[in-house]
Amino acid sequence: MPRLLHLASLFSVLLYAHAFDFDSACNSIASEAASIANATIFFAEYVPAGTNLTFPDQDPTCLSTSVSQVVLTDMCRVALNVSTSDRSGITMEAWLPRNWTGRFLSTGNGGLDGCIQYIDLAYTTAQGFATVGANNGHNGTSGEPFSNNSDILADFVYRSIHTNVVVGKEITKMFYGTPHNTSYYLGCSTGGREGFKAVQDFPDEFDGVVAGSPAVNWNNLLSWSAHFFNILGNSSSPTFITSDQWLGLIHDDILKQCDTIDGVADGIIEDPNLCDYKPEELICSPSSNTSDCLTAEQAAALRLVFSPMYGEDGNLMYPRMQPGSENADFIALMYGGEVFPFSNDWFHYVVLDPSFDTTTLNLTDYTLAAELNPFNIETFNGNLSAFQARNGKVITYHGQADMLISPADTEFYYQHIAKTMALPPSDIDNFLRFFRISGMSHCETGVGAWEIGQTLPGASGNLTAETLDPERNVLTAMVRWVEEGIAPETILGTKYVNDTTELGVEFSRRHCRYPFRNTYNGTGDSSDPDSWSCK
Ligand SMILES: *[C@@H]1O[C@H](CO)[C@@H](O)[C@H](O)[C@H]1NC(C)=O
Ligand SMILES: *[C@@H]1O[C@H](CO)[C@@H](O)[C@H](O)[C@H]1NC(C)=O
Ligand SMILES: *[C@@H]1O[C@H](CO)[C@@H](O)[C@H](O)[C@H]1NC(C)=O
Ligand SMILES: *[C@@H]1O[C@H](CO)[C@@H](O)[C@H](O)[C@H]1NC(C)=O
Ligand SMILES: *[C@@H]1O[C@H](CO)[C@@H](O)[C@H](O)[C@H]1NC(C)=O
Ligand SMILES: *[C@@H]1O[C@H](CO)[C@@H](O)[C@H](O)[C@H]1NC(C)=O
Ligand SMILES: *[C@@H]1O[C@H](CO)[C@@H](O)[C@H](O)[C@H]1NC(C)=O
Ligand SMILES: *[C@@H]1O[C@H](CO)[C@@H](O)[C@H](O)[C@H]1NC(C)=O
Ligand SMILES: *[C@@H]1O[C@H](CO)[C@@H](O)[C@H](O)[C@H]1NC(C)=O
Ligand SMILES: *[C@@H]1O[C@H](CO)[C@@H](O)[C@H](O)[C@H]1NC(C)=O
Ligand SMILES: *[C@@H]1O[C@H](CO)[C@@H](O)[C@H](O)[C@H]1NC(C)=O
Ligand SMILES: *[C@@H]1O[C@H](CO)[C@@H](O)[C@H](O)[C@H]1NC(C)=O
Repeated sequence: MPRLLHLASLFSVLLYAHAFDFDSACNSIASEAASIANATIFFAEYVPAGTNLTFPDQDPTCLSTSVSQVVLTDMCRVALNVSTSDRSGITMEAWLPRNWTGRFLSTGNGGLDGCIQYIDLAYTTAQGFATVGANNGHNGTSGEPFSNNSDILADFVYRSIHTNVVVGKEITKMFYGTPHNTSYYLGCSTGGREGFKAVQDFPDEFDGVVAGSPAVNWNNLLSWSAHFFNILGNSSSPTFITSDQWLGLIHDDILKQCDTIDGVADGIIEDPNLCDYKPEELICSPSSNTSDCLTAEQAAALRLVFSPMYGEDGNLMYPRMQPGSENADFIALMYGGEVFPFSNDWFHYVVLDPSFDTTTLNLTDYTLAAELNPFNIETFNGNLSAFQARNGKVITYHGQADMLISPADTEFYYQHIAKTMALPPSDIDNFLRFFRISGMSHCETGVGAWEIGQTLPGASGNLTAETLDPERNVLTAMVRWVEEGIAPETILGTKYVNDTTELGVEFSRRHCRYPFRNTYNGTGDSSDPDSWSCK
């Protein structure tokens, strides 16, 4: 009997292999998928491994991240639009690999965009996922399309990602002739928020969600980003702090006070919660060179930058910026003497109107933004029981040196889940694990061991058995958790020399799941992960 079963299943595998012809599936998918409700197929094309795809139709504001993408595996590329109302719709792509594993995956977006993240499609297709990506209901990085069109806003909040998944699963089934076995999500920043939106509101959509640096608590996040202008003023304000002061003076002073709290002087603050930074030593004395010191007004502003933001009702709106996150990539955006551009767009095109002078934003406006909460973009529901009940899993991670979205907000959300569901961390561990990635900036880069499989590694995007090892890769760790029931205890981060895989590994470090803290053992080589443990 077992032998017969074995033969029968072998036969069905052969039958499937015989029945599925990748090339003819790619030839016929465009006409087949035309039957999907509200969809218009732009094209379907076969793309062999090694092709350097370019995206001439991509909105130019997206181009800094998506000029071109080398495809790593043979795939069939399907591009289409799907209307979501009579005045809105999404543009999406499905990348269907020849070497399909039976897994489906949706990628996400970033900021206020509007831009398909082709690098993530290439990354996941190379691992055999049938992958989709969408434009979030509008093209480009501006929030202007939200103005006077709440349907486009609804797409941005939840409907693009949802439609993308529903249609993507349908195309996957049409293409391979059989439905997917397991479904996953991978995204960071706004992409992290989109992942949590699915977990909260569409709990059946994914078996496993990898949601990095999530922009949850969205309304208050955009008020928080705006309020640095309230604190620091414009470039001629007495409270303004220059980029040179941030990077040359303040960052060094923060490291002086806080780098060795974890026992190792390596430029990485393992747990910035322990850093109670005091800027007063930088205040100019009569004898000091004014370029090497701060005025008392600047020092007071600095304390406010590193303080939590409270609402008119006295409740916490958004936790503090973490000291040590000062980063040349983002200083001009966050502390540059202008209102943070995404906040500016959000208040202009969603909360208030384009004529509003955003340099006058104050707590009354921030309260209004929180109350408005269009389509529940807040994405802060602490009750994940529906997702838990269907055996879904979440891995969330957050760079501890993230300047755009405070990693303390992910702790805030975690605690909100714990309170709402009345669960201790040991029970939350059964369906959600949160890894704090020391020395990582926003979603990627930084001085720490930040490569954790969140996207293609290094500069060349060379996938190897090592970079795909579930001990060091959040996505393959998720697949193992969903399909084999083995949950990740830690994530082993890698720092490549000059962030280039081919130059080899500079050091590795394990990252602990919250609320554990990575703790140096006091004697070992600090670049050896075994010299640290989660306490
Ligand atoms: C792919 O094409 C783009 C645009 O032509 C080019 O800038 C890029 O260097 C190419 N990438 C590779 C790996 O050839
Ligand atoms: C977005 O760009 C695509 C081309 O990439 C185009 O087909 C689509 O119509 C555009 N959508 C909007 C809403 O402008
Ligand atoms: C498909 O997978 C097989 C076995 O894992 C591998 O040998 C082959 O190179 C892959 N083909 C492509 C196009 O990725
Ligand atoms: C098609 O779009 C219309 C709005 O234009 C919507 O009411 C309808 O639900 C959509 N159909 C599907 C199957 O999504
Ligand atoms: C989808 O594409 C078709 C054909 O280009 C176009 O007529 C239609 O307006 C598009 N719909 C949306 C919602 O972008
Ligand atoms: C999906 O799962 C079924 C049942 O375990 C298995 O027979 C099939 O091979 C899987 N499909 C793929 C494409 O791996
Ligand atoms: C939205 O409509 C209002 C009122 O008609 C107008 O003042 C505003 O400029 C519009 N917004 C945009 C971005 O066009
Ligand atoms: C800076 O703000 C002050 C008022 O707070 C204003 O008078 C001045 O014009 C602004 N300077 C710049 C460069 O915007
Ligand atoms: C915010 O500014 C408006 C307009 O100047 C004013 O009416 C309101 O009282 C201010 N709110 C706070 C909290 O200062
Ligand atoms: C990818 O990495 C492997 C292992 O480090 C190496 O042997 C191979 O040459 C690399 N391939 C490319 C294209 O860089
Ligand atoms: C790493 O980058 C630095 C600065 O760009 C350069 O000086 C150094 O030679 C690079 N190291 C290697 C091994 O390529
Ligand atoms: C610290 O870790 C190293 C491994 O790097 C090990 O050899 C050493 O015994 C450990 N020391 C303590 C005190 O645990």
